Amino acid sequence: MEQQTILHDRQGEVLTGDLSAKGHKKFYIESYGCQMNFSDSEIVASILQESDYRATRNLEEADLILINTCSIREKAEETVRKRLRVFEKTKSTNPGTLVGVLGCMAERLKQKFLEEERLVDLVVGPDAYRDLPMLIAGAEEGSKGVNVFLSREETYADISPVRLDSNGVTAFISIMRGCDNMCSFCVVPFTRGRERSRDPFSIVAEARDLFARGYREVTLLGQNVDSYKWQRPDTDEAVHTFADLLAAVAEIDPLLRIRFSTSHPKDITDDVLHTMANYPNICKYIHLPVQSGSSTVLQRMNRTYDRPWYREKIMRIRELLPECAISSDIIAGFCGELEEDHQDTLSMIEFARYSMSYMFMYSERPGTLAAKKYADDVPDVDKKRRLQEIITLQNRISLEENQKDIGKTYEVLIEGDSKRSADYFKGRNSQNKMVVFPKIKGKSPGDYMHVTITAATSATLKGISAIPS
Ligand code: 5AD
Ligand code: SF4
Repeated sequence: MEQQTILHDRQGEVLTGDLSAKGHKKFYIESYGCQMNFSDSEIVASILQESDYRATRNLEEADLILINTCSIREKAEETVRKRLRVFEKTKSTNPGTLVGVLGCMAERLKQKFLEEERLVDLVVGPDAYRDLPMLIAGAEEGSKGVNVFLSREETYADISPVRLDSNGVTAFISIMRGCDNMCSFCVVPFTRGRERSRDPFSIVAEARDLFARGYREVTLLGQNVDSYKWQRPDTDEAVHTFADLLAAVAEIDPLLRIRFSTSHPKDITDDVLHTMANYPNICKYIHLPVQSGSSTVLQRMNRTYDRPWYREKIMRIRELLPECAISSDIIAGFCGELEEDHQDTLSMIEFARYSMSYMFMYSERPGTLAAKKYADDVPDVDKKRRLQEIITLQNRISLEENQKDIGKTYEVLIEGDSKRSADYFKGRNSQNKMVVFPKIKGKSPGDYMHVTITAATSATLKGISAIPS
């Protein structure tokens, strides 16, 4: 699924960096979950590099194995447990190797992790990565370390992430951390703590530096980017909003594309939509998770909007940004969901005509509001069938929407070779759709190219250069 690079559910990718790391200690890091976690792994890599560690992609030669974990659904945690069994084997042949668990599962399970998993030496939550060198030093002396302190201030603003495994064209910039929404199904407020925004100056500086190094697209990341706000401490200077930040990054250079994720429908403002309209280099794509199309379910989910309100938001986006693609997250089988609620979700997908969606079965998470208040009462067979119906419908709509693009010409940012053939490039249009097209002379990754669409599947557009060679 090439379209899935923006936010969720990437699985176990290994970050790699300087492979000629003679004389240094070596760390191996695997990341799971959302893009924020991948972004955090780059911060971790930077902190470790400062204390003389270098990245390796070879598990066997690692002095330190790190796994950056996700707790969003039970399955995500099961995957991590399975990987720990593999690390156990590595550790049995290399007894000196340290194993550290980072991220959301570390935060959720805390000290308990050390009791449940004997091989683990370090448990470090998302706000405690600066403490890693100390904790590692302690673990080398034989004392296992836990730091799961959640901060109200930490944004890692001064740390320049090590862009490991990068294509050199697109990068992610974390603009805020944590989440203050209390969606009843979600574990994130518990694992990532309170919402806080990073100062805009360090964000713009990071984007400027990326542009100078040849990057041509940045994605501004946060659990809820539209509630970004920053004010210089202890002053009454004006508050910097997300719309202000978008404009500031867009001003860096017209050749730098800006994306952002994720938007909460309750927070995205007309100001943001107008700013998107004003700058051609702000991509016309909004990830606007609906979660459910039923007002009663939305209320139990504590989403703070209802079906008519969300529909209005979609209409407003269509009005101000007619070219904008919209995508979604959808949960099938939330507590108390009736067949008619499910039908409401299907009709919402039809109405919104999402370009794509991330679709999940509800998975109860310990400690969440839903786990405390509502029974997880939709039978598994119904959850599965409803999810399948949602996926089938979304695939049909993605295909129909992509077919409408045939004959149109888009500006595509070249990201690299297509997966299938080195004779083809892949890249995205502003709407975040993956486009594959034959290479032409003189063009390389990081260049823009006008591509006319000639064919489409539900996941990919195919095209040819709009300028005959
Ligand atoms: N069960 C299933 N899906 C969930 N999500 C969040 N929590 C759960 C859960 N308990 C989904 C939501 C969210 C996305 C990141 O994951 O759709 O937007
Ligand atoms: Fe990201 Fe949420 Fe998973 Fe944490 S639990 S890694 S915030 S998706």
